[in-house]
Amino acid sequence: MPTDPRGLRGDAPLLDAWLRFHEEAPTPFTIPGHKQRLDLVGDVVAGDVPLYAGLDTMKLTRGVLGDAEDRAARLFGADIARLSVGGSTHGNQALALAVGRPGDRVVVSRTLHRSMLLGLALGGLEPVWVRPEVDPRHGLPIGVDPASVDEALTGAPDAVAVFVGEPSYVGTLGDVGALAEVSHRHDVPLVVDAAWGAHLGFHPALPPHALAAGADALVTSAHKTLPAISQGALVLARTGRIERSRFDAAIEATATTSPSGAILASIDAARALMERDGETLLGPVIDAVAAMRARLARIRGLVVLDGPGVDPLRLVLVLPGTGADGNAVEADLLCHRMPVEMADRDTVVAMVTVADTPGRLEDLAVALAESIDRHRSEARPVRTSGVWAVEPVMAMSPRQAFFAARERVPVDRAIGRVSAELVAPYPPGIPVLAPGEEITSETVDVLRQARAAGSRIAYAADPSVRTLDVVIE
Ligand SMILES: Cc1ncc(COP(=O)(O)O)c(C=O)c1O
Repeated sequence: MPTDPRGLRGDAPLLDAWLRFHEEAPTPFTIPGHKQRLDLVGDVVAGDVPLYAGLDTMKLTRGVLGDAEDRAARLFGADIARLSVGGSTHGNQALALAVGRPGDRVVVSRTLHRSMLLGLALGGLEPVWVRPEVDPRHGLPIGVDPASVDEALTGAPDAVAVFVGEPSYVGTLGDVGALAEVSHRHDVPLVVDAAWGAHLGFHPALPPHALAAGADALVTSAHKTLPAISQGALVLARTGRIERSRFDAAIEATATTSPSGAILASIDAARALMERDGETLLGPVIDAVAAMRARLARIRGLVVLDGPGVDPLRLVLVLPGTGADGNAVEADLLCHRMPVEMADRDTVVAMVTVADTPGRLEDLAVALAESIDRHRSEARPVRTSGVWAVEPVMAMSPRQAFFAARERVPVDRAIGRVSAELVAPYPPGIPVLAPGEEITSETVDVLRQARAAGSRIAYAADPSVRTLDVVIE
């Protein structure tokens, strides 16, 4: 029988319903087809309870989802909260559908995740790009300058929203308060993709979450930095500049009609845990990461991201000064069965959450230090990965290009043509090429370099990048 070791069920209606389902052990004549039997495909379906005819009745008469969403809204100071089983991907795409109409312009950070860029294609929105500053000391982005958003909104007075990603994939933090102030001065909502920031605001050493800092909408992956099941996400909004009915319609339009109750219950439980114990649980891990950073920073040539502009939980190592190759370091860590979130030649990113213990982090620090020493060689200069620096040349809207007739051509003949596809080295999944952009020799170089640095080239029809799909004009 499943347990509730921290006694959260009284504060988490969906968790309570999930536990109750197991306690009552009904004989369902509903989906899912496994009917809770573990002798057919095995334990892989254990705990899979649907929302409909699972956590609630098929007619949703108990209202447990609404109760959980109201609690999330109260905690985050939002007017609306939706729990999603579709990851931040779902939230980003729903917000793209909610804020404008086809043909509307939006100011967008070019380092947004592919889910938002495809959201632009879904919603027919036309991007006006802004770009985060890059810190030359480590070659990584440090947040979008509010002045560049101001300039973009002044140049595009018809724009209907601003979209940024905060914190960045590498844990750097921009000034969401100032971005909100600028957006509101131009009377448009600020939408923050905080996929990596679900823990923000739950400890005094962490910055406030985006809504508390003044944003109008916040999308976050509960499964990334909180202890929720994969795909669990929260979409939160204030209704002053975002229309409730458009928001609801957009969420529904992009959501499954068979949500996993287990995922929903885990988001609710993670919310209840952070609300009650967040500060107590986060404190020791924040301290352990600080100690780990101080220890790793003593490694000759290694740059460890730190300071007020960096998420205290994110461990990001910049390797060029050590001469070590991050892919080799990752391979060593895999031998220790310690996979990391991201590694390419120059960067290693380890995810730390409340589920980590100081002992586990100590083991990681030792393994990292040993591996970097083993692979140490001549220092390379720090360079900014093209992923963060690409200057897109827009030829048509993402939507037009997405639906246009396309053909596959060898990459050298693709230069000068309009891309029909989205191509992103993964992680971080930030597009180097988006539908509607002209393919330039620079973008091709960036893709080749990313591949040579060990990144997987994701979403491309041809991941070897020998060919690209282009629009037939
Ligand atoms: C910045 C950003 N936004 C959104 C997403 C999508 O999140 P999910 O995987 O929860 O759909 C990711 C995933 O890595 C991301 O890095």
